[in-house]
Amino acid sequence: MSMKIIVPAVLSLAAFASAHADTPAKPDKLVVCAACHGENGVALQPIYPNLAGQQDSYIEHALHAYKSGERKNPIMGAQVGTLSDVDIQQLAAWFSQQPAKDYVPDIDGPVGGK
Ligand code: HEC
Repeated sequence: MSMKIIVPAVLSLAAFASAHADTPAKPDKLVVCAACHGENGVALQPIYPNLAGQQDSYIEHALHAYKSGERKNPIMGAQVGTLSDVDIQQLAAWFSQQPAKDYVPDIDGPVGGK
């Protein structure tokens, strides 16, 4: 009796877990961040950092640091006030799972000192 019930339950849990890892739901607050960091974490302007592929724990830490004032930046300081701990977890998970942009530092560019 129990096998008929338990086996399908285990299989469907496994299917849910892998589908969830591949495609996290878009966080509610993503639209705010996307204006500068891009929905996929690739920044729209070079003055904004890319977040795609960044460590989940680093993003969470940075957002908490802006919120507590430990890390001071007028732009980000104005973004984090309404973020709950759950929002922060969801945003960090989202950006960390976006594919990182191929980035080749340009040593001849303005930052490289020409
Ligand atoms: C108006 C543009 C703007 C918006 C909107 C914005 N950011 Fe930022 N973000 C920045 C800038 C500029 C920095 C760099 C700040 C600094 O030097 O500390 C930054 C830095 C960050 C960092 C730290 C990156 C690092 O490498 O240390 C994280 C994480 C981050 N933003 C996440 C978010 C999230 C999540 C949201 C949405 C709630 C958001 N940002 C909204 C402009 C923006």
